[in-house]
Amino acid sequence: MNIGILASGGDGVGMNTFLYNFCLWLHINNKITLFSQGYKGLIYDITIPYDIKFLRKNRNNGGICIKTSRCQEFETGEGVDDAIKTLQKHNIDCLVVMGGNGSLKGLKEISDRGMDVMFVPCTIDNDLAGTDYCIGFDTACNNSINFIKQVNDTMQSFNRTCIYQVMGRKCPQIALDVGKSVDADYVFTDEFCTKEKCLEALSQSKKDAPIVIVKEDLIDVEELKHYIQDQLNSDVKISTIGYIQRGGKPTQKEKHFAKCFAKKCAMEIRRNKLNSAIIVKNNSFYAIDINKI
Ligand code: F6P
Repeated sequence: MNIGILASGGDGVGMNTFLYNFCLWLHINNKITLFSQGYKGLIYDITIPYDIKFLRKNRNNGGICIKTSRCQEFETGEGVDDAIKTLQKHNIDCLVVMGGNGSLKGLKEISDRGMDVMFVPCTIDNDLAGTDYCIGFDTACNNSINFIKQVNDTMQSFNRTCIYQVMGRKCPQIALDVGKSVDADYVFTDEFCTKEKCLEALSQSKKDAPIVIVKEDLIDVEELKHYIQDQLNSDVKISTIGYIQRGGKPTQKEKHFAKCFAKKCAMEIRRNKLNSAIIVKNNSFYAIDINKI
């Protein structure tokens, strides 16, 4: 079989681990074509030579070595037509996509045109409804926790409160998990969280350096900072935990999950059970219809 693979949308640590292990399961009896830069690579026929040593070298690195992109051109009918032409040119029998919600939507377009596909959930947001886990989430949380612990050292010296912004787009999972791990005083997860409730929590805090976690794009953190500062007469700082969430080494859990996703996906392809999304539920891995995730 000729298998094409690409990464699309936001990267996450663990994608390289998945990629290496997936290829290792399949490359003896199959041809693997690595498309670079996500769907852009399909539209413009950008590939990188298949080299297992290159994939092995990168297996425990953050980011994604075959590169990704957010490709608006792919959202048009012509973009999908061009992508199909490239897949046909390379005689691809099955296209595997690592990505999140947007990437899945794109893959369904390809599937609707008769191409066999497989989907592997990879997004630090962990916001795909059909699966308990998406590759990248655990490392993103751990990176955030380590970041907060380090910043908190200096916050303690000054008795400062700190507002930490985490990623997650529309999903509060990172904010919630990180908040629990660092024992945050208040976590802004959705529109029901208010500055008044936050103030109440902070006024009861026994910590030298109280911690507030905010999911990105939810509230105006500058406004919150000044509100707390004025009401509690305390020193408040803001720290945005940005792309560090998507870099560095995978956690043990990440490596384990990435390897399990790789094995399950490879086994489904070996048995010619295509057009599925690989998911995990209660620590068991399944392949479900691509339209049911
Ligand atoms: O979807 C993953 C994610 O990291 C979000 O949490 C974040 O909002 C977004 O990607 C950032 O996107 P970009 O890498 O395009 O800046």
